[in-house]
Amino acid sequence: MRPTLAVIHTPNLKYNFLAIRKKVKKIRVMAVVKADAYGHGMIKCVEALKSLGDKSPEYYGVALLEEAIELRKSKITDEPILSFAPFLLSEINNYKKYKIIPTVCTAKHINDLYKLNKRIKIHINIETGMGRLGINFMEAAELISRLTKNKNIIIDGIYTHFATSDVKNKKFAQLQLQRFNKVLSELKSKNIDYGLAHTANSGAILDMPETWLDMVRVGISLYGYYPSQETSESIKLKPVMSLISKVSTVHYINKGDSVSYGRKFIAKQKTKIATVPIGYADGFSRGLTNNASAIIKGKTYPQVGRVSMDRIMFDVGDDKIKVGDKVILLGSSKEKSITAWKWSTVLNTIPYEIICGISKRVPRVFR
Ligand SMILES: Cc1ncc(COP(=O)(O)O)c(C=O)c1O
Repeated sequence: MRPTLAVIHTPNLKYNFLAIRKKVKKIRVMAVVKADAYGHGMIKCVEALKSLGDKSPEYYGVALLEEAIELRKSKITDEPILSFAPFLLSEINNYKKYKIIPTVCTAKHINDLYKLNKRIKIHINIETGMGRLGINFMEAAELISRLTKNKNIIIDGIYTHFATSDVKNKKFAQLQLQRFNKVLSELKSKNIDYGLAHTANSGAILDMPETWLDMVRVGISLYGYYPSQETSESIKLKPVMSLISKVSTVHYINKGDSVSYGRKFIAKQKTKIATVPIGYADGFSRGLTNNASAIIKGKTYPQVGRVSMDRIMFDVGDDKIKVGDKVILLGSSKEKSITAWKWSTVLNTIPYEIICGISKRVPRVFR
């Protein structure tokens, strides 16, 4: 079997979740498990979270109805599942059949639901500045009050999403919160029960307790990463995924010899090259060429030559590295560690994209 694996450390997942739970005290926590739990494997991660018993998440959040159905068909038979996807009338039967909570985010959704007159729980997304989805905060209270005349529609929650809770300057996030709170007070003044109000993603959980309201929605920090390098590290997090492989061949090259496509690495002296069976088809991006490293037997070695689809190479000098030695591409060993931040800095992206980008070809092994 191929030795390249993404090891999912479920004790770290549980540890991160409990640390977040402790931070927000009595406030409910939604575990955001969309995109296959940010690449970690949704079903197994949810099983691990469920094993926390009465401390496990009160809600689960996904991006697609399909993800919600997959979750409902597995272990999540009773817990509420919110789909962040804009509600589609044509999918109403599946929302009802699988007891999935849709996101209502346009006036049309409100009209459709009103006319449909079927008993359903919903969450309403309010647009306060993300500029993506949601009912504009200025029109929200009026539109929602129309909906409440239909007693079959139960507003289980109302939410908004921050564009900048992970940057140092919280001014815009504060403005979004103010706009959202204005909608809540308008609804209160109309005696409208809006269920649970929720806004906080990882950045806001870390640094903006005033946003926690009735529930927080944690994504990236559940998987052990801070959402940016500008947030505080007010919770200690442990990365959940490590990426490992084994040396598959070793060979010497001489001064002036090159490695891989395009000859982007030319040896300055005789050296030993170890090949490792992972490539850009697995999510080890080609952009990491000559700019990544691996830990082998406790020592860090540079990746050399173009990253190819299935294979990468490391310059291991004259060290005693042999076929079958363990290679840590993401993860830690004693004092050394390589995190998704290292890759994301080179690739000008964020750890979210790195961990979601480890492809399906890499088996997930749960420990
Ligand atoms: C609506 C919504 N809430 C919460 C989250 C979780 O955000 P984060 O991963 O930054 O914690 C996301 C993720 O993008 C989201 O789309």
